[in-house]
Amino acid sequence: MPDPTATPGSARPSPPIAEDVAALRANVAQWRGAGERIALVPTMGALHEGHLSLVRQGRAKADRVVVSIFVNPTQFGPGEDLARYPRTFEADCAALAPLADLVFAPQAQEMYPPGSSSMISLEGPAAAGLEDAVRPGHFRGVATVVAKLLLQCGPDMALFGEKDYQQLKVIMRMVADLFIPVAILGGETVREADGLALSSRNRYLAADERARAPQLHAAMQRCAKAIGNGDDPATILAREVEALAKAGFAVDYLALRDAESLGEPDPARPRRLLAAAKLGATRLIDNIAV
Ligand code: PAJ
Repeated sequence: MPDPTATPGSARPSPPIAEDVAALRANVAQWRGAGERIALVPTMGALHEGHLSLVRQGRAKADRVVVSIFVNPTQFGPGEDLARYPRTFEADCAALAPLADLVFAPQAQEMYPPGSSSMISLEGPAAAGLEDAVRPGHFRGVATVVAKLLLQCGPDMALFGEKDYQQLKVIMRMVADLFIPVAILGGETVREADGLALSSRNRYLAADERARAPQLHAAMQRCAKAIGNGDDPATILAREVEALAKAGFAVDYLALRDAESLGEPDPARPRRLLAAAKLGATRLIDNIAV
């Protein structure tokens, strides 16, 4: 059956594109009718291998994969990079052509129609501190848009990267709290050969910054090793923050947390080391298991 949402005559290959919820739901209903399982991969576009690895995992686990591309204004703070967030829609669709069954690319008024007034905010350790301390309101925007996407699409599963570890935990918490019937799956962080975690924002690193950027991950690995060996976390973390500052990083945080709750760490339980730092105007975030 021909797909009503396909864009005819587009020059580059692309999956069919749904621009509104009705078209998204029409596709999903057709697949459901055929007994197929559906995976959703929410993104803000400017796709790289990290995003594509989630799409591939979705393909391996479900019959159909929907990728949403929406630069969500409510998760950006006033002084943040919403206006200059990279937008590469055609290239994104070309990269998704062999991988995704549908791209959901709504305009802001589709996601936040005039009069919209419901937002989802979380309390508790997953949503407090770390990113929330530096970007107040960020997870409110993330939780709200992800809840909308899950309710619009109704997938069996949705995939998120461990790269944004606190975000993954916030989304798992929100889905459990609101009884949203979907499995949330995490995908491992995809890195450059030198350890730098792939990010849509890496393209903004100047050449000298790009050369220094892997030092963040290297410092985190040293911390994880020393802490794993029983060294005092506070001493190790303070030493590495100082070293990063000397190398030109403005460190927002380098913190050891409980890997599940993101509350205070307990050496008897799995722990996670999380970091965020600015190099020039570009903000890098990363995390690793301890
Ligand atoms: P975005 O930054 O576009 O990321 C989309 C998904 O890709 C997220 O789940 C993110 O964790 C994952 N991802 C990014 N870089 C990755 C890497 N190097 N390895 C593995 N996965 C990676 O995160 C968002 O968009 C938004 O907050 C969103 C959830 C879409 C809500 O607007």
